[in-house]
Amino acid sequence: MKKMRAGIIGVGFIGTAHIEALRRLGYVDVVALAAARDAERKAAALYVPKGYADYRKMIDDENLDAVHICTPNRMHFEMAMYAMEKGVNVLCEKPLAVTAEEAKKLRDYALQHNIVSAVNFNLRFNPQVVQMKEMVKAGDVGKIYSVHGSYLQDWLFYDTDYSWRLDTELSGPSCAFADIGSHWIDMVENIIEQKATEVFADFETVHKTRKKPLKPVDTYSGMALRPEDYQEFNINVEDQCTVLFHFDGGAKGVCTISQVFAGRKNQTVISISGSKCSLHWDSETGNELWSGRRENYNQQIVKDPSILYEETKKVISYPGGHAEGFPDTHKQSFAKFYQAVSDKDISVCDFATFEAGYREMLLCEKICESAKTRQWVRIGRKEL
Ligand SMILES: NC(=O)c1ccc[n+]([C@@H]2O[C@H](COP(=O)([O-])OP(=O)(O)OC[C@H]3O[C@@H](n4cnc5c(N)ncnc54)[C@H](O)[C@@H]3O)[C@@H](O)[C@H]2O)c1
Repeated sequence: MKKMRAGIIGVGFIGTAHIEALRRLGYVDVVALAAARDAERKAAALYVPKGYADYRKMIDDENLDAVHICTPNRMHFEMAMYAMEKGVNVLCEKPLAVTAEEAKKLRDYALQHNIVSAVNFNLRFNPQVVQMKEMVKAGDVGKIYSVHGSYLQDWLFYDTDYSWRLDTELSGPSCAFADIGSHWIDMVENIIEQKATEVFADFETVHKTRKKPLKPVDTYSGMALRPEDYQEFNINVEDQCTVLFHFDGGAKGVCTISQVFAGRKNQTVISISGSKCSLHWDSETGNELWSGRRENYNQQIVKDPSILYEETKKVISYPGGHAEGFPDTHKQSFAKFYQAVSDKDISVCDFATFEAGYREMLLCEKICESAKTRQWVRIGRKEL
């Protein structure tokens, strides 16, 4: 593969993680970044050759193979569209946009213009998530009866915790589900190879007002506590929710998503019940996968490339006993994306393209509708 040229837009929490993961690949040079504030200083601090105050100028000047969009959700649409109109491949953070309509436009443009597009549903590439998918595919689990689980965090636990994710102007109509529930349902649909057809959601806003800092604060970077540093802000999005799912292959599902769950920093749980065995994966012990049986011993399956399925081995970089986790999933996600950029082909890719990004936006809209109407809502096939 030739060396690739990447530009990063937004270097808060996740943009910085993108830079690190790309450097681990070795064949992608991060040649420039764009930042809303102090672009040159941020570029120097991250050892990136150039910092741009305007992402458009970076795209126009840098002859990029791909741009990574790592800004708040509201900006994703215009940035992705601008890059694609200049013929640049796009890897956008999730959620792809703030409405399904925007996401559909992005998907259609990418398809029509042969742009390699990706949405960073990186957790798909945790080795044990891939192993669960491969076990279901191989028939080891049998017919899927049900899936349940959760995605829990506590960084919005106090009313003094604030993020742009709580502002519908920047985030869109959902906070907890769009932010982390989207990862859970993306993984589940991908593992069981079934699509949700109906959803029933119960949303809750634990803190109806929060103390919003008067200066911008990057995600996870801490919070101002003095009264002169914040203003009271009304919250119109959920910080916790529960969603029921019906899947097209007959499975039933339920998840609890919360960003106000004390002590759980970033825990994802997926439990699958099948006609042959059950599977249980907890990201806090993410290198292990539990398999349960009625008639035999239960098993603890460890992340060891020498004993796992072929597809699982492809997303493992280290031998058994050497932990892999969140940063590694980005590396694996980007490796697949840049392979597709090199091949100019997404026909066989297993990363989330803008198609998956659009689907997730549609699901999110239906989930918000269900929470509002307190009814089951269908996801029509025609909408996809
Ligand atoms: N895949 C994952 O695991 C994962 C994890 C965290 C965040 N995300 C997603 O990544 C995106 C960013 O989240 P974050 O946590 O890094 O947020 P953040 O607030 O920490 O960082 C966002 C950055 O974007 C910058 N920015 C805003 N407008 C800009 C502009 N016009 N040009 C350039 N930079 C601009 C901000 O100054 C800030 O530094 C969100 O869409 C979020 O959902 C994904």
